[in-house]
Amino acid sequence: MMKVVSTEYSQILAARVARESGSELVDVRFSRFPDGEQYLRTGPVGDEVLIIGSVTDSNSLIQLLLLIDACEDARSTLLIPYMGYARQDKQFRPGEPLSARAIARALSRGVNDVMTINIHDRDSLRFFSVPARNLSIAAEIGDYLSGLSLNDPLILAPDDGAEYFAMEVALTNGWDTDHLEKTRLSAEEVRMEPAGITAEGRDVVIVDDIISTGGTLAMATGMLYEKGASCVYAACVHGVFASGAYGRLRASGIREVFASDTIEQGCSVFSAAREVVSSIRRC
Ligand code: R5P
Repeated sequence: MMKVVSTEYSQILAARVARESGSELVDVRFSRFPDGEQYLRTGPVGDEVLIIGSVTDSNSLIQLLLLIDACEDARSTLLIPYMGYARQDKQFRPGEPLSARAIARALSRGVNDVMTINIHDRDSLRFFSVPARNLSIAAEIGDYLSGLSLNDPLILAPDDGAEYFAMEVALTNGWDTDHLEKTRLSAEEVRMEPAGITAEGRDVVIVDDIISTGGTLAMATGMLYEKGASCVYAACVHGVFASGAYGRLRASGIREVFASDTIEQGCSVFSAAREVVSSIRRC
């Protein structure tokens, strides 16, 4: 029977996965050496273990590498709920690293297979040197939104590239989807509005895989209200909320911001656990 073990950065999701799958959650002690280096010690992980750890910063990456090493003797599946650095997946200028590749290579060592959740670009799965698959929790977002009694909801992607994700969110409820179109009016001025569907009188939910600085969303919100939207919400899988983004979004007039537990935040209202357990059962 597979046990579940996690870094400090994914402990809530790990507990949910363990409960949902009826697996044992392994106790892990974390501390630091006097020089600041990280230390951890796991309880018995048995023969087969699911290791869960989001990469949100350098500390979480180091902790995950240590945890993988501590589980060396077991057959292990690695779940990376949020894979930071995945957005640098191309060499835009000479001399740059493919950061997604660097992280994937480092995390492949010592595990048998890998799962990610709504990774920035599925193509990055090729950077792992073990079998890797990506799960989408768009349907979980749709389920959550359906409990909010939204008024004639319009599910809006921040750009046309993200509209497929918006469609996945909207699918079960048959909601309308669209994407925001940007028109540059001058060097300083940009107009943003839904490309084809009017927002007037509707509740609009802007959905994205990641909210990092929330810049586009904050700017779009005011313009959606100007176009007559009743209420604007934002929902994402990975709530990074860099540089005070959550506060900036709420200050821009967004009624609520929702995220999942791939990054554990106060607004993590839906969970990746069910999709993770279904995927494990399918394999
Ligand atoms: C970009 O490709 C991603 O899908 C997100 O749209 C992006 O990371 C969001 O960044 P920010 O919140 O800084 O606008």
